[in-house]
Amino acid sequence: MVAYDLIGGSLIALGALSIATMRVGANWGVSALDRTFGLQEAASVRHPSRGGERRQHQHREPSVVALGGNMGPRLIIVSNRVAVPEPGTKQMAGGLVVAVKAALRNRTGVWFGWSGKIDETETAQPRIVERNHITYAVIDLSKTDFEEYYNGLANRVLWPILHYRVDLQKYSRDDHSGYMRVNCLFADKLSAFLREDDVIWVHDYHLMPLAHEMRARGHRNPIGFFLHIPCAPLDILLTLPHHDEILGALTYYDLVGFQTENDRDNFAAYLLAMPGAKEGRGLTFEVEGRQTRIGAFPVSIETAAYARLARNAARSPLAKEIRESLTGLRLVLGVDRLDYSKGIVRRINAFDRFLEVNPEWRSRVTLLQITPRSRSDLKDYAAIENEVTTLISRVNGHYGEASWTPIRYINRFYSRTALSGIYRAADVALVTPLRDGMNIVAKEYVAAQDPENPGVLILSQFAGAAAELTTALIINPHESDAVAAALKRGLEMPLFERRERHGPMLEHLLVHNIERWAEDYLAALAETRQRTSLMSELRAFLSPSKPSTDRRQP
Ligand code: G6P
Repeated sequence: MVAYDLIGGSLIALGALSIATMRVGANWGVSALDRTFGLQEAASVRHPSRGGERRQHQHREPSVVALGGNMGPRLIIVSNRVAVPEPGTKQMAGGLVVAVKAALRNRTGVWFGWSGKIDETETAQPRIVERNHITYAVIDLSKTDFEEYYNGLANRVLWPILHYRVDLQKYSRDDHSGYMRVNCLFADKLSAFLREDDVIWVHDYHLMPLAHEMRARGHRNPIGFFLHIPCAPLDILLTLPHHDEILGALTYYDLVGFQTENDRDNFAAYLLAMPGAKEGRGLTFEVEGRQTRIGAFPVSIETAAYARLARNAARSPLAKEIRESLTGLRLVLGVDRLDYSKGIVRRINAFDRFLEVNPEWRSRVTLLQITPRSRSDLKDYAAIENEVTTLISRVNGHYGEASWTPIRYINRFYSRTALSGIYRAADVALVTPLRDGMNIVAKEYVAAQDPENPGVLILSQFAGAAAELTTALIINPHESDAVAAALKRGLEMPLFERRERHGPMLEHLLVHNIERWAEDYLAALAETRQRTSLMSELRAFLSPSKPSTDRRQP
């Protein structure tokens, strides 16, 4: 750490130089030629002694450039589920898809992960699918892998713990080893087509140990990780049995990104609790000779494009149908995957309370709750579905009239375009998660509004988005009275206040959009690598007789 402190300034300057280099390289334009080579020549690239390196240089020849071959590094995105746009496959919901697609836009890249299919025959090589200028590389999972890794450790243990719901976690050793096994499988399949200069960006809690596995296979590529969901405080993280194998493995990444500063700081506290861990400059930590950097990179949306989409969708037949069906009713909207972290029960309770204390609003407003089913194999998800359904029928039964249904409840999935039109039609969005990494619905709702006559966003203080969308009506979802009061306030808010609140949020999102998120993250990853390399070189220079302890930079 002494050396690091001594040269911190110049390291940063050199780091900035490397960012410039990376930004040039980061124009990873898609090319069919490159994509084909990338997946076929994988083995030789991993073993330069067998000619892989030479072949790579051949690809850099100007003639190949002229043919449209890509000379820059590829961006390999890895996530559990890959959203291959195929008829008949489950459509993915959530911010991860939006974010990954944005990261791959205008870059040469491959999106690698699980196909969403169960098959007992292990896929020898990932299946390659090309759609809309993106290369998808997918593998299937066996039933046991799906059960232990996805349903088990990822969604019965990590998801609840990271969402502060220790009470819901159900740990088992079988699930733990299934999780590690599938991470090894991902590492093997990824190794098979990885090139030396690829940049790897791993997404979400399913794949925390992946960098460790890749390093164990000798890969020295830059590897970043981004956690789309919250990171709980230290005491909660420590409830995860054998957390060092999973959370501790994040130290094998060069850069670990979080949604908010709060999440980042929670993880910093975890790192500092690791034996022998030391904090360096610029949110860099040294653990067992490895250096890892952490940072907050709030996920966003394609703000301008989404605003355009919503403007057009407002004129679509679906939007017209919805408006007609409202027959003058004001529209309150909730859009969530059916998940206990989303606070849907609390929201219905608050709506119930609102109707109870504001009888003048009965028959004048409807809550449209759009809730695609999610992870239905899991008991807690089946339970939340029952609870929500029962509660909604109780409220509808209690307040409803032959001519008025207080809550419209829908489990189907709406397309991005349709949803944008629905957002625009809604007077109020009720976004009440009990804990959420970011919450993209809140951002999409803001972008979809007519700036001249915007709706009102009611937002839980426990959504990552609350740190940015500060002029929303921020509420504590645990207090039904407060949510009910915010709902009344939102429905009755004068135009000037709606504009005053909406304007700064839209402005913020236009600047902090998803393209910027991807750029900021990748620039930070490049800078981190540059710092680490310089550190290793400096160490070697200062103590030439000692072998380097940094396994990534031997
Ligand atoms: C959240 C997670 C994503 C996940 C998505 C849908 O947004 O952060 O990683 O893909 O939910 O969940 P599912 O279990 O259906 O993939």
